[in-house]
Amino acid sequence: MTDTIVLPGPSALGEEGLEPGLKLVEAIDEMRHRLKAVILAHYYQEGPIQDLADFVGDSLDLSRRAASTQAEVIVFAGVRFMAEVAKILSPDRLVLLPDAEAGCSLETACPAEDLAAYRVLHPDHLVVSYINCSAEVKALSDVIVTSSNAEHILRALPADKPILFAPDRNLGAYLARKIGRELTLWPGACEVHDSYSLASLARLKKEHPGAPLAAHPECPRIILEQADHVGSTRSLLEFATKSPAAEIIVATEPHILHQMARLAPDKRLIPLVGRDGDPGGPVCPYMAKNTLAKLYLCMLNQAPRVEMPADLIARARLSLERMLQMSPK
Ligand code: 13P
Ligand code: SF4
Repeated sequence: MTDTIVLPGPSALGEEGLEPGLKLVEAIDEMRHRLKAVILAHYYQEGPIQDLADFVGDSLDLSRRAASTQAEVIVFAGVRFMAEVAKILSPDRLVLLPDAEAGCSLETACPAEDLAAYRVLHPDHLVVSYINCSAEVKALSDVIVTSSNAEHILRALPADKPILFAPDRNLGAYLARKIGRELTLWPGACEVHDSYSLASLARLKKEHPGAPLAAHPECPRIILEQADHVGSTRSLLEFATKSPAAEIIVATEPHILHQMARLAPDKRLIPLVGRDGDPGGPVCPYMAKNTLAKLYLCMLNQAPRVEMPADLIARARLSLERMLQMSPK
C-alpha cells in the first residue's frame, strides 16, 4: 500500500470541494467501503492509483472484471472508452470515471458517422474494431478485439470475407503481418506509441547494449521490427518479470514501469523516449487526467458517471460479447 497522501488544500491543487489536510488514500478507502465500490485501474494510471486499486490490468482483463463484478459501483481509473465498456457489460451498476475528459486519440480518429458510411460503401466487409473506440463505433462493429486477443480472434474469422480493422493502423498492420492476411486499415494511431522514434531507440541500444526491447503493438512498424517481444500491457509485464535480461527497454506508456518495478525489482527498466524528448517516456495525457483527488471526488459526488441510452448499450454489447466468447480462456 502507498503511503497516505496528505492533500495540501483545494487552492493548491485547484480541486473543488476538498477539505484541507484530507488524507486522500484513507478517504478513498472509506468511500469505497461505504459505496460498496470496486476500483479498477489500467497500468497507465499513476502509481498511487495503481497501488490502491482493487484490480490493475490490461484492457481485456479489465473488461472481464467489469463484466463479473458483484460491486454496486465501478470506479474506473482509466479512460472513457474503458468506463463505457464497464457500463455496457454491467449496465445495472453505477460506473464512475474520475475525469470525464479522459479520452483517447484512437477514439477521436474514428467518428461513428465515418464508420457508418464505410459500412454502407463496403457491405461485404467484416468490421473488427480495437476496443479503443466509442460505444457507437462498437455498435457498428462485428467484433471487438484488444491487443491480447486480436490475433486469436482474427485467425478465427472466415477466410473469404474482406476485413476492415479500425481504428489503429499500427496494430492492424502488425496483425496483418502476423497472420499473413490483408486487412484494410483505418488511419488512426495512439499519439503516445506513434511518437516513438528510431533515433532514440538507436541511442538507448548503444547506451544499453544487449537490453531487449519490449514493445506494445500500437507502436509503428519501424519500432516493432526491432522488438524482442511485442504484446499487450499484461504481456509486456510478464516479459519483464520472466526475462533473464538485467536491463529492458520498454516501448509503452511509462506508468507501467511502476508495476514492472514492483514485479521485477531486480531489473533496470528503461523507457523508450518519444517525440517530446522526455527521458521518462511519453505520458498519455488522457490517462494522466485522473488523480487521487479526482478519484475521491467522483465517489463523493457520484459523478462524472457513465450513462448511455439502453439501445446503444444493447447494440454495443453484441460485438463486445462476441469478443469475450472468442477470446482465449
Ligand atoms: P492494453 O492494456 O490492452 O494493452 O491497451 C493499451 C492501451 O493503449 C490502452 O489505452
Ligand atoms: Fe489512447 Fe494511446 Fe492513451 Fe491508450 S495510451 S488511452 S491508446 S492515447
